[in-house]
Amino acid sequence: MRVVVVENDKEMSREAANLIQERIKEKPNSVLGLATGSTPIGTYKELIRYHEQGSVFFSKATAFNLDEYCGLDGDHAQSYARFMKENFFQSIDIDSENTFIPKGNAEDKQVECERYDALIRERGGIDLQLLGIGENGHIGFNEPNDLLSAGTHRVELDQGTIEANSRFFDSYEEVPKSALTMGMGTILKAKEIVLLASGVKKAEAIRGLLSGKISTKNPASFLQLHPRVTIIIDREIADAIQLNQDIA
Ligand code: PGA
Repeated sequence: MRVVVVENDKEMSREAANLIQERIKEKPNSVLGLATGSTPIGTYKELIRYHEQGSVFFSKATAFNLDEYCGLDGDHAQSYARFMKENFFQSIDIDSENTFIPKGNAEDKQVECERYDALIRERGGIDLQLLGIGENGHIGFNEPNDLLSAGTHRVELDQGTIEANSRFFDSYEEVPKSALTMGMGTILKAKEIVLLASGVKKAEAIRGLLSGKISTKNPASFLQLHPRVTIIIDREIADAIQLNQDIA
């Protein structure tokens, strides 16, 4: 696992955007796994800038998003489908036919989850998966639990996750309580993974991720089993966990 320590959010976004740009240049028809949340917004902004400068093009790329709330229409202001459109897709040249996100309002959630995993397989699997991390160590919406699911599945959100996400809604009550998310297997099958984290609130989750131990109580810790992972964290986290670069 490669750990990159950066000074701030801007540097984190640039590092991640550079890596993604490189991979798209190497393989224009890359299959990207993408994430929502505050963390990757700067990365998308950088990629949009690179695109506008003419240095990266997404016309042959495919994107699969990690997760979507249950019960929100794709055009709901807080849906992740809308988030991706507004923060990234509408400003680049990706074909909307090649952008996928689980349908959180599908009538049969089980069928939708199976369809989503099959679609990823049909497209040749994910080349590069971008991840944020929850304060509780969740990746996608794989919340800490006794058992984790391998494939895309429906999940009840942790109270802490609902509280953290309520900042985007008018009230706690309005936050959906469940979501569809890629599973741990879906994520770990990606050929390469890049995880971003900034701010001391993520320090404990990152400590678990770098601990050398794997626990379903910190789903991100499973990334230690993957052969090609880059973790980009800010100095605040590195200092809080007294990161010794040797453990990376
Ligand atoms: P955040 O969320 O980027 O908004 O902190 C990350 C996550 O919960 O995975």
